[in-house]
Amino acid sequence: MKKHWIFALFLTLLLLSSCALSRPDTIQPQSSGASDSDSDTDAAQQIPEDAAQPLYRLHAADQRIPSLAEHFDGVMKIGAAVNAWQLSENADIYQVLTKQYNAFVLENEMKPERVNPAPGVYRLDAGDTFAQFGEETGAVLRGHTLVWHSQVPAWWFEGSGEDGRATQEELLTRMEEYITTLVTHYRGKIDTWDVVNEAFSDNGSGLRGADENSLWTSIIGDLDGDGSETDYIEQAFYFARAADPEAQLILNDYNLEGDPVKLEAFYQTVKAMLEKGVPIDGVGIQGHINLGWPSVESFEAAIEKLASLKEYNPDFVVQITELDVSIFEWGDESLEKETDLILQTQFAARYADLFDMFARQAEKGNLDMVLTWGVYDGGSWLNNYPVEGRTNAPLLFDRDMKAKPAFWAIIDREVLPAVFEEWR
Ligand code: XIL
Repeated sequence: MKKHWIFALFLTLLLLSSCALSRPDTIQPQSSGASDSDSDTDAAQQIPEDAAQPLYRLHAADQRIPSLAEHFDGVMKIGAAVNAWQLSENADIYQVLTKQYNAFVLENEMKPERVNPAPGVYRLDAGDTFAQFGEETGAVLRGHTLVWHSQVPAWWFEGSGEDGRATQEELLTRMEEYITTLVTHYRGKIDTWDVVNEAFSDNGSGLRGADENSLWTSIIGDLDGDGSETDYIEQAFYFARAADPEAQLILNDYNLEGDPVKLEAFYQTVKAMLEKGVPIDGVGIQGHINLGWPSVESFEAAIEKLASLKEYNPDFVVQITELDVSIFEWGDESLEKETDLILQTQFAARYADLFDMFARQAEKGNLDMVLTWGVYDGGSWLNNYPVEGRTNAPLLFDRDMKAKPAFWAIIDREVLPAVFEEWR
């Protein structure tokens, strides 16, 4: 089915080079309603409303453009990673956020190294701005992330143990204090927490260890003597549940959608924890993928497999927490890639197929939200990772925050040929 519509799109693009298509009337420009008055400077009027712009190269906040969140209303929440400075009405992006999304996560400012840089020090300013924004907009808020091996303060792992390392007790106490402080502070405001992030090994062996930069298992180890070292994860979920019994508690990781060995280890471990009664409400598949990897079928199979854990917890759900589609393959070190018509077509088809699949899974009750890791191409972390200073284009809005053909491919495939005609 997928192949058919991509093929049809290519055919249409060929046709377009010889004949002009009349524009479908599914989208009509509305009057800008902008007033010339200088005194009237409400934020809505700062949206670029360039009448000379073609209809299909619209700014993400333009009144004539549809909203992703509204499009999927009742099916799933649609969100994005943001930074606290963007949550002010003066920021250019503010109108885009409130128009296009109904779920948010802070990209960096709620990570332990930012929040808890020294013993007893809690920096909650960005988190409080975020919580306030959530209250004002009614959006779902994700807290990212309580326990991780990266972007954690070094002092957590230092102490009175061997070689100046924290002891098991010291690290557990710090983890408990941190989770309790944060989750209690945001009780009723942050709806969903990534309680533990990236706990699994890339070599499929199970949990990430010191060879992959995580000291959690080597310091905390096997507390209950059951032969597994999932104890730090279990404790983290218990602490979070105690601090906010209503919050949705998630275990988040990457490559589950495309690495069957990692997926199997992850699935078996989560299953074992659920069997023991650990309060895990769902899993986050980050979704840092590229144009060709993985297949949509593989992604969908991972969602289905993980959602089958509903058997142990009726509320269990899967979320796509950090979606972006790199235009570079993993291992490609180049800095630039031409975003020509073919690439934009592939990119649009990729996003459309993914969102068709996500909506299908959401309708089945397997998925409740999809968040992209950023809003527009210029703000993506993939401009600096894994290759610094490259020009990537992994999101739905371009560097001018205009909707790319991929946005229209998700929203309304009928208008795509016309979008492409103007995009060229
Ligand atoms: C990334 C941020 O986007 C970057 O700005 C930061 O320098 C490093 O972290 N998986 C995660 C996110 O769970 O927290 C990461 O965010 C991207 C990969």
